[in-house]
Amino acid sequence: MSLISLQGVSKIYDSGEGKVAALQEISLEIATGEFVAVMGHSGSGKSTLLSILGALNPPTTGKVMVDGIPVYDLSIERRADFRSMYIGFVFQQFQLIPYLTAMENVMLPLAILKDSHAQQAAKAKEVLAKVGLGNKLHRLPNQLSGGEQERVAIARAIVNQPPLVLADEPTGALDTKTGQEIMELFRSLHREGLTIVMVTHNKDTLPYVERTIYMRDGRLEADTLSAKTAGAAH
Ligand SMILES: Nc1ncnc2c1ncn2[C@@H]1O[C@H](COP(=O)(O)OP(=O)(O)O)[C@@H](O)[C@H]1O
Ligand SMILES: [Mg+2]
Repeated sequence: MSLISLQGVSKIYDSGEGKVAALQEISLEIATGEFVAVMGHSGSGKSTLLSILGALNPPTTGKVMVDGIPVYDLSIERRADFRSMYIGFVFQQFQLIPYLTAMENVMLPLAILKDSHAQQAAKAKEVLAKVGLGNKLHRLPNQLSGGEQERVAIARAIVNQPPLVLADEPTGALDTKTGQEIMELFRSLHREGLTIVMVTHNKDTLPYVERTIYMRDGRLEADTLSAKTAGAAH
C-alpha cells in the first residue's frame, strides 16, 4: 500500500490580491521506504505540496491519505496527534528554539508522550549521538555550525520515530560539503527504512534520491526514477 496517496489535489490561496492556484489536480502515490526529491522553480508549488502531505495545510479539493488515513477528515486535534506520530519536519531555517540546548530542542516532540523526563532525555541523547552530535548535547543553537544545527533539526524530526520525514530545502542554507554530509545522513536514515520527501533546488542532492518529482506552475511536470543512486556503488 502507498504510504502517501493524493487524488486530484488542488490548492487555491485567496490572498488580498486575488486567487493563486498553487496546486492543480495533483495525483501522486509514494510508497513506504521511498526517498523522493521534489524540484521546480520558485513558486511552482513545492512547499505547498509538502505542507499538504504533512497534514499542515488542507487542500481546496481532492483527497489526501497517509498510511490509509484521510488526514483532512480528522478533527484539528486528531490531525495534530497524527502529525506528531507520523511525520517529522525539517525546515530550511531549522527553526530551533534559540534559548534551548540541542538536547532540549530534540526533547520537544517528546513532551506530549507519557515518558518520564529521564526517558525523554535518554531518547534525545541517543538520537543526537546517531546524527553525530553526542558530544554537543548542551550547546545552544548559536554555539553550533549551520550543519550541526541542521543535524539537531533532523534529530528532532526523527526522535519520535515517525515513518515519514518531510524536508523543505534541507541543504539550502549550507555550503556544498556540509550539504553532502547532510545528504549522507538522510541516506543512512533512508536505509534504515525511513520514507523521506525532500524539496530541493540543489541538483547535487539528486544522486542520493530514488525518485524525482518535477513541479511546474502547480502541476506535476515529470516523475522520474533514478537510474542509480549514489549509494548503489558501495
Ligand atoms: N499562504 C499563502 N497565501 C497566498 N499565496 C501563497 C501562500 N503560500 C504560497 N502561495 C503562493 O502559491 C504559489 C506556490 O507557492 P509555494 O508552494 O511556496 O512554491 P515553492 O515552494 O515551489 O516556491 C506561489 O505563487 C505563492 O506565492
Ligand atoms: Mg518553497
